[in-house]
This record gives sequence, C-alpha cells and structure tokens, in this order.
Amino acid sequence: MGAVGSKQHARVPKASKLSDVYDDNENSVAARYDTLVSAFKTQFEGEKPKTIARSPGRVNLIGEHIDYEGYSVLPMAIGLDVIVAVSVALKEEGNVEEDEAEATLSIANVDGEKYTPKEFPFDHEQEVDVKSHHWTNYVLCGFKGIFDQLKKQNKLESVLESAFMKRVKKVMVMVDGKVPLGSGLSSSSALNCAVTVALMDAFELSFTKGELSELTCLSERYSGTQSGGMDQAISIMGEKDLAKRIDFNPIGAMDVPLPTNLTFLIGNSCAVSKKAESAHKHYNLRVVECRLAAILMAKHYGEDIEKAKTRVTLREVADLYCNKGDLWTALGAVRKALNEGSYTKKQLENDEGLGDLRKIFDCENNEAFNVVLQKNDTFKLRDRARHVFSEARRVHEFQKICEGQSPRYAVSGPIYEHWCKVIGLEPDVGVASDDPTKDFGHPMYGMGKEDALAKLMHLSHESCKTQYECSCDELDELVDAFMSAGALGARLTGAGWGGCVVAVCESDIAEEILADVKKSFYEKRFQSGVANIADETNLLFKTAPSAGAAILHYDDEKGVIV
Ligand code: GLA
Repeated sequence: MGAVGSKQHARVPKASKLSDVYDDNENSVAARYDTLVSAFKTQFEGEKPKTIARSPGRVNLIGEHIDYEGYSVLPMAIGLDVIVAVSVALKEEGNVEEDEAEATLSIANVDGEKYTPKEFPFDHEQEVDVKSHHWTNYVLCGFKGIFDQLKKQNKLESVLESAFMKRVKKVMVMVDGKVPLGSGLSSSSALNCAVTVALMDAFELSFTKGELSELTCLSERYSGTQSGGMDQAISIMGEKDLAKRIDFNPIGAMDVPLPTNLTFLIGNSCAVSKKAESAHKHYNLRVVECRLAAILMAKHYGEDIEKAKTRVTLREVADLYCNKGDLWTALGAVRKALNEGSYTKKQLENDEGLGDLRKIFDCENNEAFNVVLQKNDTFKLRDRARHVFSEARRVHEFQKICEGQSPRYAVSGPIYEHWCKVIGLEPDVGVASDDPTKDFGHPMYGMGKEDALAKLMHLSHESCKTQYECSCDELDELVDAFMSAGALGARLTGAGWGGCVVAVCESDIAEEILADVKKSFYEKRFQSGVANIADETNLLFKTAPSAGAAILHYDDEKGVIV
C-alpha cells in the first residue's frame, strides 16, 4: 500500500470539459486541439482520431536526483503539456492482401518540419535506436511500455491473440508539444506519458495511475537514461492546486498544499540540457556513483562483498544500517564509509575489492551503464551520497512546513538531537543541510514558514551545485538574478546541467520580479541571439499546480467535447 491520500489506484480521468484540465483561455485551447485534429487528418489522409490524451510537464520544487535512490520528491504538474491524437486502422476481414501486410506504427508531429515523421513496424519487441536521438524514440518507449505492462500482468498473449490486436493494420499518432525541450520541465516524460495514455485508450486497455506511472518510468529507460520515476508519476498523478510528494516502492502521491500567499516562478537558463545525449557524463554517471556509494557503505557496515555488490540504492543501505533510515545517521556514516574526493576505477576494483565493475552494472545487457564505465575513470562517492541524504531530509522538512508544522519542529532524528545536546541548543532550531553542526550558524529558529521553505530551496541549490555538481554557470546566474530581484528562494529544477530555475516569492511582488529578471538576465540574451524574444512567455513565467494526464473525448462532428 502507498501512503494515505495516494491516488495510485485511480484511473486517468476522462475530462468532460477543457476547463477541467486547463486554466488558460478555452478558445485558444480548443483552437490548439482543432489544429491537432486537422494535422492528423492531413497526415493520415482523412482518417479521424479515435482518442486524444494529454499529459503535462512538471516543475520539481525540491528533491533533486533522489528519486532513483528511492527517496520521495516534491514536484507539481505545470500547465504546459503534450497532446496526442491516436487512431487504429483495422484490416478488413477476409482481405488476404491486407492480412499479409505488415502492420505499422506511424508517428507525426504538428510541427513536422522540426519534428520529422517516422514509421515503425507494429512490433513491441523492436529496439529503440538510442543513437539516433530522434524525438519519436519517446513514442516508441510509450508503445513498448504498454506491452511490457501486459507481460507483467500475464496478459500479453491473450491481448496479442485478441481479435482487435490481430486486425491492427496501422496505428496513427499525431503529437503537439508545448513543454520546451531540454528545459528541465520534463518534455520527454510528458510525451511518453501522453502517448502511453492515448495508446492505452485506443487499444481498449485500462491501467491504474500507479501502473501507468511505473510502466512509463521503466519504458523511458529504453531512450537511454536510467532516470527515476518522478517525472512520469507527477505527469500522470498531478492535480490542480496541489503539489505532490511522490513516493517510490510502492509508488504513491500525497497531496501537499502550498502556502497561498506564495507564487512559484520558472525561468529558463537558455542552456539546453540534452539528457539522453549527455547521459554518460552527467545523469547516468550520477546513478552509477550513487550505486557505488551504496555498495561501499554496505561494505563499511560489514556486509560480505558479494552481498554488498547487489545493493542498488543508498536508501536500501540506510534503511538497513542507519537507525532504520535516519538521515542524520546516514549523513554521519557517509563521512566514515566514503573517502573525500574521487575514486579511480582501479581503486574501486582492486583496493576496495569490488572486482570488475562491468559485472556489477551488467554491462553486457545494459548499454547505458556500459558507456558510463567506458567513458569515465573517476567517481565521486562521498559528495554524491551527502547530497542524496541531505536532500531527502529537505523534502521531508519542506512537506512538514507546507502542512503547517512550525519550521522549528520540522527537523528531527536521533543524531540531530544528539548534536543539539552536544552544542547545548533546543532540538528544534536547525535546518537540514548535510551537516547538523554547520547550520546552527544560521538556524531556522523564529523563521516564518515562507522564509523556511525558501531557505530549504536555497540549500538544495547549493547542494546540487557543490556536491552533486549538476548546475552550470547559466543556472547559477539565473538563481542570483531571481534572488537580487527579491525572490525568497531559487534553485535549479530537474536534472540540471542547463534547463530551468524555480523561484518562490511573495505573490504581490511576482510581476515586479519577472520584470527585473527579464532586464537583468534575458535582455542581453535577446540581444545576442541566445534567446528569442518571441519565446519570452515560455522562458519566464508564473506557474501553479496543474492537472495531470487526462483523456479527452473526441467527436468528429462536434470536435473535442467540452
Ligand atoms: C530527471 C529524471 C528524474 C529525476 C530528475 C532529477 O528529470 O527524469 O527521474 O531524477 O532528473 O531530480
């Protein structure tokens, strides 16, 4: 069972009107759907869509790079989304020629010049060509994921043998995306999720939101990144007006009400972060480093080396050996178990006794990890683990404060209390960084809820920058621009190495801050051509928690039913 308040057992809603899903002007939303449908008809020679689905991008408020380590994260869905129209043409019964023809999966985009169409065989076992980095890879991920899920449920054969599936001649998919690519707002997961939901409906299947979240998380790994499940889970389970605490193993989504006097702002750093293309030196390398850290921590706790090598996440090890997962204890253990600086491959394999790293990461069957090990020789473990455990604490504290707990009481745990005693302070005056002693220099004692949330965001950015090393100059500059403009807090959001910053401010000065950041950060970029002024509203904007995935009923006479 997931956490109380989770929505993982529900099904994706069938929206009965556009305003169930969108806050924007209904006419412009309806016009976008009309464009989608007419592009569909043009591309597929008059065929009409059978199903339309949408799934949004997300902004992560706090909890970066910890989902794949098993820790909860705190994102919200945003208004920008991907919409997908699908139809399935069936073979005519008794038509021998059609019977023998190979069924196809044909994919196109409303912006066909930028995102060229591609046709694949209707074959769920085909591999995704990760080297091509073609946008349709994510559509293929969604397509394959549906069949993987059926297999997991022991339903694959019966579905493949069904009269419907046997008659499939052509599956037609038309896509329109509004989530800026490479922006850290999860355009790829929005695409994967929208496609998966649309295909599920068009194939007359029904999965729960939890199943969809898990299957899309796994299927997106076909694209070459070993990402955790945050993006897909919030895209599927997001809700208007609510941020969510997303839990893993099992998946769940807890409502987190945000303070109503605060506004969240998003700014794009204009440094494009191509997650799949740079995965071997950024994202997937971090996944490898965390796993190596988990193995060495297990070894430190006396685990037999062969057993330690089976450990996958830092959480697994902390839950077993660090006071049932107490994060202060885990942070203390990191300092003892892991050396400062980097380990070389040779050190890990010989001195630490791990043997061939390729075997640990099953490189024969996992190309993503294979490339990481081929292209990197040094691995930082202590800093990465410190980030993970301290960030997991910050998520916990952020949620508690949103739920109304005083910042003074949001911090807890035996080691924390021990430090308080040593230093002679009340055990309710600190804020989690990686080092309980350090933060007593600027305690949260007496801080208001708003400042405390902002401070947690600030500490998160610092940790991403210095310990996880997933920031970049443009992101740091943008964080500073928001802070100088009067934001309470700001941090990179998503995987980093480019993409967006999320900032928080008092609602009544949001517009002023946007104007100021436009001046200090964007104007020079508009002038130099790094950013296009026509994209302004997609580069810097206010955001609020938006609805998650939905299926929209389409009627050829009346259009999208609203
Ligand atoms: C990407 C991944 C997520 C998560 C974030 C970093 O968005 O897809 O699973 O790991 O990076 O928090």
